Amino acid sequence: MNIPTLEDLGNLEGKRVLVRCDFNVPLEGGVITDDLRIKSALPTLRYLVEAGATVTACSHLGRPKGKPSPEFTLDPVRKRLQELLPEVQLLENLRFNPGETDNSLEFVAELIEGQDIYVNDAFGASHRSHASIVGPPELLPSAAGRLLEKEVHVLNSLRENPKRPVVGIMGGSKVSDKLGVIEALLDVVDELIVGGGMCFTFLAAKGNSVGSSLLEEDMIEKCREILATYDSIRLPLDVTALSPEGVIGDPSAGGEVRQMGTSIPEGWMGLDIGPGTAVEFCDIISEARTVLWNGPMGVFEDSRFSAGTRTIAEAVAECRGFTVVGGGDSAAAAKLFGVDGEMSHISTGGGATLELIEKGDLPGLSALRDSQRV
Ligand code: 3PG
Repeated sequence: MNIPTLEDLGNLEGKRVLVRCDFNVPLEGGVITDDLRIKSALPTLRYLVEAGATVTACSHLGRPKGKPSPEFTLDPVRKRLQELLPEVQLLENLRFNPGETDNSLEFVAELIEGQDIYVNDAFGASHRSHASIVGPPELLPSAAGRLLEKEVHVLNSLRENPKRPVVGIMGGSKVSDKLGVIEALLDVVDELIVGGGMCFTFLAAKGNSVGSSLLEEDMIEKCREILATYDSIRLPLDVTALSPEGVIGDPSAGGEVRQMGTSIPEGWMGLDIGPGTAVEFCDIISEARTVLWNGPMGVFEDSRFSAGTRTIAEAVAECRGFTVVGGGDSAAAAKLFGVDGEMSHISTGGGATLELIEKGDLPGLSALRDSQRV
């Protein structure tokens, strides 16, 4: 990637280093429910502290719209960081200042005041052209942290030289959100499994009735084109659906859950891949030497529709090839089903992971590439 790394920074004794982290962690009532993103920054922060630098970390949290708001304070993260590495100071949420998302020069100047060096370890935010990501490398000697370096290495190796067969697993709700990455993956993978809400637009493109399932009408033609161009796409053969009276996430509301083929009656909603499909997808996954999984196979938060995602998560965990989980919901599912420890790599990125796979570069990476050399 031709990006400076921590070793390129030379002697750090007595230097003041600003580290951009992605501490955008899930919180419930002010309590961190998953500290993966904090722990993942520790190798970089520790390296800098041990090298004698004075380290200040900074991050965004949520989308507070340019003004302070208690809901988005980094206080819980600061507390956790103090427990893990008390030597590191953490600034307040960068997005409390509108200059962060506007990439204002004034805000960049404010951020780097008193700092000698900048390190970007915020892989999950490096697809944003925000002040703290793209600004400091223009003004300070800069480098990628360990996490950023690792994520880029793993995700680029998937694109560039993967062991075959390569199996991509795409899920999640919308085709439109992931079209770019789907098209990029189709040029790399031997087979692309498609589940989750997005499979219904593909099924509709093949002429199936999808009932009340999630459907993006304006994407049907595009899906038809993709299906005509690539024969590597694997779609569900059966689905688990909820009858019209049912309510997603509320089994007590009643409604019938039924396994059916891919002609879904009016009013019924497909909410998971069916058991036959899960078996077929598992067979494909078990043969893979490289797997990239992004997106759940169904509404796994509702136990009536979690079987497909659970089965796929377990199959990826058991696969002896190199397995990468592309952040976000799939990482949460792997954790929920207790198989997160079995994956070769769980990306800390959501949108950043998809954008890197799609485009092979990110604004945060090119900023470091063009940065001031030490
Ligand atoms: C993420 O959670 O994907 C990153 O922290 C980026 O957050 P954003 O989508 O609010 O920029």
